[in-house]
Amino acid sequence: MIVPGSTSQELAAALAAELDEPLAAVEYDRFADGERLVRVPETDDRAVVVCATVSDHAHVELLQLQDAARRRADEVVTVLPYMGYARQDEAFEPGQPVSARAVARAVSTGTDRVVVVNPHERAVCDFFDAPCEAVDAAARLAAPLPELDEPLFLAPDAGAVALAAAVRDAHGGGETDHFQKHRVSDTDVEVRPSDARTAGRDVVLVDDIVATGATMSTAIDQLSRPARVFVACVHPMLTDGARTRLAAAGADGVYGTDTVERPVSAVSAAPAVADVL
Ligand code: R5P
Repeated sequence: MIVPGSTSQELAAALAAELDEPLAAVEYDRFADGERLVRVPETDDRAVVVCATVSDHAHVELLQLQDAARRRADEVVTVLPYMGYARQDEAFEPGQPVSARAVARAVSTGTDRVVVVNPHERAVCDFFDAPCEAVDAAARLAAPLPELDEPLFLAPDAGAVALAAAVRDAHGGGETDHFQKHRVSDTDVEVRPSDARTAGRDVVLVDDIVATGATMSTAIDQLSRPARVFVACVHPMLTDGARTRLAAAGADGVYGTDTVERPVSAVSAAPAVADVL
C-alpha cells in the first residue's frame, strides 16, 4: 500500500496507479500550536511511505508516517522524492553539521529500505543506516519539451552534465555542454559560459534542483542570442520569486517533475520510482 505524505499526494497517486497498489487515505491534521498529526487508517503488510521533505514540517510528518505505518505493516519502505538538507552533505565551515547525514540517520530509524530520487550527490545514500538506492528521473524531463531546433542541452556545472545527457538522449539527440559555476552565496552565483554556440539554437538548461533560480537565471544571462531557452529540473523547489526571476531572465518554459509538487511539475517521476520498487 502506498502511504502518501501531504507534500507528495500527486506522486503517490501516480505511483499507486503505476504499481496497481492501493493508496492509503491518510488524514493530515495540525494542533493549535502548529504541531502536525497524521492518521494512517490502514496499510497492507508492506507500506511504501512517499514523502518529499521539502520543509521541516514535512520531515516530522515523514517520521510520523513511518511510525504509524510500522504499527501495522511488516515492511516499511520510504521513498524520498526530494530529500531536504541533502545539499549540506559536508561541513563547509568549522562547527557546521553534515545535515544530510543527520537527516538520513533519523529517516533510517523508521524504515527497512530507502529510495531517493536524484539526491544532490549519490554518496548521500551512504549516510542512511537502512539500505538506500538512488533513482534517476532526469530522462522524464524530455517529455514536456516541445520540438527543438538544433538543440543544445546545457548543464550549469560539470556535476549536472549526466542529467543534461539523460534529457538529450530521451529527447532524441543533440549537443551537450556545461558551464563553470561558482556559488558566491545562497542567492548569488557566478557562471562562466561554455564554448558551445548558442546563437539561433534552442537551449535546454538542465539541473537537479532549481531553488532561488539564481543558477539558471545567471546561466541564461550568459547565452548569446539563443532562439528559445527552456529550463528543466528534476526538483522544482522554486522558492519565492524564482519563477518570476526565470521569466525575467528570458526562459520560454520551465519544467520539473512531481518530486516537488509545483505548477511547473509537468511530468511524473512515478515510472522511474516504480521501476526500483
Ligand atoms: C547545486 O549545486 C544544485 O545542483 C543547484 O544548482 C542549486 O541547488 C540551484 O539553486 P538555485 O536555484 O538557488 O541557484
